[in-house]
Amino acid sequence: MTSAPSRRTRFPILLAASVVALMCSTGSATTPLDDSTPPPHRHDGATTHHSFEDVQHWVEVFDDPARDAWQKPAEVVQALRIRPGMRIADLGAGTGYFIRYLSAAVAENGTVFAIEVEPNLLVHLRQRAETERTRNVVPMLASADNPRLPGGMIDCVLIVDTLHHIDDRVDYLRRLRHALRRDGRVAVIDFKKDAAVTVGPPLEHRLDREQVVAEFRRAGYQLVDAPQMLPYQYFLIFR
Ligand SMILES: C[S@@+](CC[C@H](N)C(=O)[O-])C[C@H]1O[C@@H](n2cnc3c(N)ncnc32)[C@H](O)[C@@H]1O
Repeated sequence: MTSAPSRRTRFPILLAASVVALMCSTGSATTPLDDSTPPPHRHDGATTHHSFEDVQHWVEVFDDPARDAWQKPAEVVQALRIRPGMRIADLGAGTGYFIRYLSAAVAENGTVFAIEVEPNLLVHLRQRAETERTRNVVPMLASADNPRLPGGMIDCVLIVDTLHHIDDRVDYLRRLRHALRRDGRVAVIDFKKDAAVTVGPPLEHRLDREQVVAEFRRAGYQLVDAPQMLPYQYFLIFR
C-alpha cells in the first residue's frame, strides 16, 4: 500500500484533486454543463449528466500526474487480481487513465475493452493505444443504457467515477451481467458521500456507498470485497 502524501506535498495534491473532482462534476469552468438533477422518484437516476467531448481539457484533468498519489492506479489493478489472458472492460474509460495498467496486467494474450459513450474520447483512446503500443486494447462505443459488450466473456468490469453518470442503474447492471463470465466481477470506485471528504464532486452528485451496494444487490450481485486503499473513494468488488 502506498503511504499517504506528506504534509509538505498534501496541499498541492489536494488542490489538484479538487480540480479533478470539480471537473468530473460540472464540466469546464467556461462551459457549465451540469444539466440534470434526477427527479426524486428516480432513486437510481444519474446524479449528473454533462459532456466529455473536449478531449484536450479532459486529458489535462484526468491524466494530471498529481492524481496518481491518491488514485493509486497500479495498486488498484493489483487488488483486482487480474491474470494474463483475462478479458477486462474499463467502463467509462475516459481518456484511458487506467488502460495501460490494465493492458499490462492481462498481457499479450488478454484483452482490455475501453468502453465509452463519447465518440471524441473513443478516437483519443485508439490513438493512445497506438502511441502506447497497447495492442490488446479495444476501444468500443457504448450506448448510455447499454455497454454493448459481447456476451459471457468478460472476467472483470472496472467502473471508476462513472457510475453516477448512469441512469436506471439497476436495469443497467442487470444488462451488464450478460457480458460477464460465470465467475465475472464488477469493481466500482467512486467518491465517498461524506462531507468530511472535501475532494470530489459536490455531495449531491455523489452516490452513497450503501446505495451502490443495494443497487448491485437488486441487480443480482453480491459484494465480495472492499479494499481499503483509497483515501477519497470507496472501492467495491461484486460478483
Ligand atoms: C468522470 S469520467 C471517468 C473517466 C475514467 N474512468 C477515469 O477514472 O479517469 C466518466 C466517463 O464516463 C463516460 N460515461 C458516462 N456515461 C457512460 C455510460 N453510460 N457508458 C460508458 N461510459 C460513460 C463519460 O463519457 C466519461 O468519459
